[in-house]
Amino acid sequence: MALNNVAIYPGSFDPITNGHVDLVKRTLRVFDKVIIAIATNPGKDNSLFSLDERLQMVREVFKGHDGRVQADSFEGLLVDYAEGRRATVIIRGLRAVSDFEYEFQMAMMNHRLKPKLETLFMMTGESEFYISSRLVKEVVSLGGNVSGLVPDNVLKKLDQKFKR
Ligand code: PNS
Repeated sequence: MALNNVAIYPGSFDPITNGHVDLVKRTLRVFDKVIIAIATNPGKDNSLFSLDERLQMVREVFKGHDGRVQADSFEGLLVDYAEGRRATVIIRGLRAVSDFEYEFQMAMMNHRLKPKLETLFMMTGESEFYISSRLVKEVVSLGGNVSGLVPDNVLKKLDQKFKR
C-alpha cells in the first residue's frame, strides 16, 4: 500500500458518527490524506441535515488534522468523482455481517465501472461496531441519549434539530 496516496471515504454522513471518525483515524495510519466525500442526490434528498451542515460538521471534527482530512461533496457516480480527484482507493467501513452484501455489491459494481479503482474495507472498532447514522437519528428523535456515539458538535446540532 503506497503512502503519499489519497483515499476517498464516501458516504451520506447524515450525520457523521464516532464510527466514521474511528474509520478516518484508522485510514490516516495507511494513507497520507483522506477525502470525506458526501454524496448528494438533489431531487431525491431525504437527509436530516443539509449538505452544508454535514460538510461543516465534518470540517469541525477534523480541523486539527493538518489538512490531512478534507471534506467535499459530489453528485453522480462515485467512480467519476474518484477519478476526477485522482484517487485510486475507496474506503468503506464494515461493521456487522449484515453490511457485507450491500458493500460487496457496491464494490463489485464500482470495480466493473472503473477496474483501476480499488475498494478497501476497514473494520470498525469494537466500541463503534453498532453505531449508524440511521440509528442515531432514530434514538435522538425518540428522546434517547446518544452522547459518546457522535462528536460533541454533532450532538449539539442533533439537539437543535430536535429542539431539546
Ligand atoms: O453512507 P452510505 O449511504 O452507505 O453511502 C453510500 C454511497 C454514498 C457511498 C453510495 O450510495 C454511492 O456511492 N453513491 C454515489 C452514486 C453511485 O456511484 N452509485 C453507484 C454505487 S455502486
